[in-house]
Amino acid sequence: MTKTSLEVQNVTKRFSSHTAVNDVSFSLAAGERVALLGHNGAGKTTLFKMVLGFLNRDGGDISVLESQPGSQEARSNTAYLPESVAFPAALTGREVLSYYARLKGEKPKDVMHLLDRVGLADAAKRRVGTYSKGMRQRLGLAQALIGHPRLVLLDEPTTGLDPISRQNVYELIGEIADQGATVLLSSHALTELEARTDRILILSKGNLVADDQLSNLRAQAGLPIRLKIWTRPGAAEEVADQLGNIDRSRMNGRSVELDCGMDEKVRTLSAISALGHLVEDVDVHAPSLDDVYKYFSQAAQEEAQQ
Ligand SMILES: Nc1ncnc2c1ncn2[C@@H]1O[C@H](COP(=O)(O)OP(=O)(O)OP(=O)(O)O)[C@@H](O)[C@H]1O
Ligand SMILES: [Mg+2]
Repeated sequence: MTKTSLEVQNVTKRFSSHTAVNDVSFSLAAGERVALLGHNGAGKTTLFKMVLGFLNRDGGDISVLESQPGSQEARSNTAYLPESVAFPAALTGREVLSYYARLKGEKPKDVMHLLDRVGLADAAKRRVGTYSKGMRQRLGLAQALIGHPRLVLLDEPTTGLDPISRQNVYELIGEIADQGATVLLSSHALTELEARTDRILILSKGNLVADDQLSNLRAQAGLPIRLKIWTRPGAAEEVADQLGNIDRSRMNGRSVELDCGMDEKVRTLSAISALGHLVEDVDVHAPSLDDVYKYFSQAAQEEAQQ
């Protein structure tokens, strides 16, 4: 049986009359990489804070590595990268890491390799005040990884990072998960998560509206595949006529766009290829995570209005 790292059961949090997290339940197994998605104010950070024991819940239960949130057992095995990391500007990267190592009961010399792991080895002796935003974020990540945590909570870990640094962060997350830790990260950067998480949780106005693998969420949403056909110059009309049922507002002199269901994909592509010399190229766009996210958020809002 797979070990459960985090169990959240019917958890609710209210701030006066506002319900920030509403009856949310999910559980995460060891080694899973899970993304928590949601609009601004959806309740992501609030959920993290309850898991960490920083905030009390108004209802439900949370078990972190089979212990209470905030307990010694939970704290010593959980890592956290907060939404906005701030370190004393006068300290160097090494000094910051040494400080956190002592807080976590680790020897400073045993954690210095983490600076290298997040690409900060060259800047280790520089004051944090001179670091760029991305460098501070990476120092935050190094800090979070001290002491081989079994549950890693990252609140928007790639915000402010350039594309290469983002890729490095996901590589690091992959390594941590491969070593058996569970990683739960929140993000707004949907597209980059596509190939890098095992599972997606979507929060909308405090409600958990989806919890599955992206491929299953895609199938549940039943969103169409978009095909863009690049035609020979001036042949768009003829292509549209031959394919029939084309939305004329989605064509111009050189291209024709159409949507088709997953089950019609092969048939539609063969119809396009039968047009021979009229067609120069075809782009196939599967629904993106953004589309899937929009679908589940809207569906939840429509249900709430009924
Ligand atoms: N300490 C607090 N007191 C009152 N309301 C709060 C408090 N913390 C959060 N909230 C409210 O709870 C809701 C959820 O906030 P939360 O910070 O969890 O959202 P989030 O999903 O992390 O958003 P973002 O993507 O902007 O970080 C918001 O409406 C927020 O205003
Ligand atoms: Mg937040």
